[in-house]
Amino acid sequence: MISERCVASDAPLILQRLHLDWLQQAAVDVVVLRLDLVDPELSGNKWFKLVNHLDAARRAGAPGLISLGGPHSNHLHALAAAGHRFGFATVGLLRGHEQDTPTVADLQAWGMQIHWLGYGGFRARNLPGFWQPWQQRHRGYYCIPEGGGGLPGALGCAELVPRLPSALAAVGWDDYDAVWLAAGTGTTLAGLVIGEAGRHPVIGALAGPPSHAVDDHVAALLAQAGVANEGYELLDASRGGFARFDKELAHFMYTAERDGGVPLDPIYTAKTMMALRLYVERGYVAAGTRVLFVHTGGLQGRRAAESQLHKLIHG
Ligand SMILES: Cc1ncc(COP(=O)(O)O)c(C=O)c1O
Repeated sequence: MISERCVASDAPLILQRLHLDWLQQAAVDVVVLRLDLVDPELSGNKWFKLVNHLDAARRAGAPGLISLGGPHSNHLHALAAAGHRFGFATVGLLRGHEQDTPTVADLQAWGMQIHWLGYGGFRARNLPGFWQPWQQRHRGYYCIPEGGGGLPGALGCAELVPRLPSALAAVGWDDYDAVWLAAGTGTTLAGLVIGEAGRHPVIGALAGPPSHAVDDHVAALLAQAGVANEGYELLDASRGGFARFDKELAHFMYTAERDGGVPLDPIYTAKTMMALRLYVERGYVAAGTRVLFVHTGGLQGRRAAESQLHKLIHG
């Protein structure tokens, strides 16, 4: 069982200045909040989204945790690691049919029990009654929504905000003008909007195609938290779809990594940074703006994409 709350999330926040020519030319300053470095296994936004769920499971005396995701899911990866570390059994409900991926291999190594739902079965995840048979099969297990979402997930992310001022001192900043981050479900973004309470705008770069679903989800989380629906913007960074890669993205990612010294993943962080470049180059970000770019992790999920990215560049 977890002996103490926030075992990993109390680790110091690491900030890194980003030097890239397109930023320099526009006189825009970027500091990357390296959440990917918070913990080698519970990397990125994952720890912050999970911490309140883990606490609730511990308080409920749950013997285990159940959640769902795809075969490359960063969320399930972190959940399996957390279960292994803190003494919870874990059950993963996976999209699609049985396949071997580096992520699935890690889930199994950490002892996660895996059920493949097929595609139709996975689509049913938002229907009423979806969890019932799983709760009967795994009695007392705590169910965590997809991606570690829900209000507990958002509130865990909100806790990052008050920790920023002291971390910023290490890079010589006393404040910032905007926060940029990748948005999947929008839970992390909602958490930062809650934490910011209107002090800084939060810009979410959508990893999936634009739809009202993320906006609605963010609005619902803010309403549940009793926070005004303001101070954020969502923009389309998906480049044609979730987990769609193209040559330009692959080239951008490898170049930005080489020149900026920050590893990226092609699904979330590289697309977000590419969207930032577009905004900077179009002049939508004023000279002198200090951007806090939240690195939400995802590097484990990149392993399965590496050969595709390499092929896109080298043919
Ligand atoms: C690496 C990474 N970045 C960003 C996100 C998006 O987070 P959210 O669903 O909270 O918007 C995810 C998904 O959880 C992720 O795995």
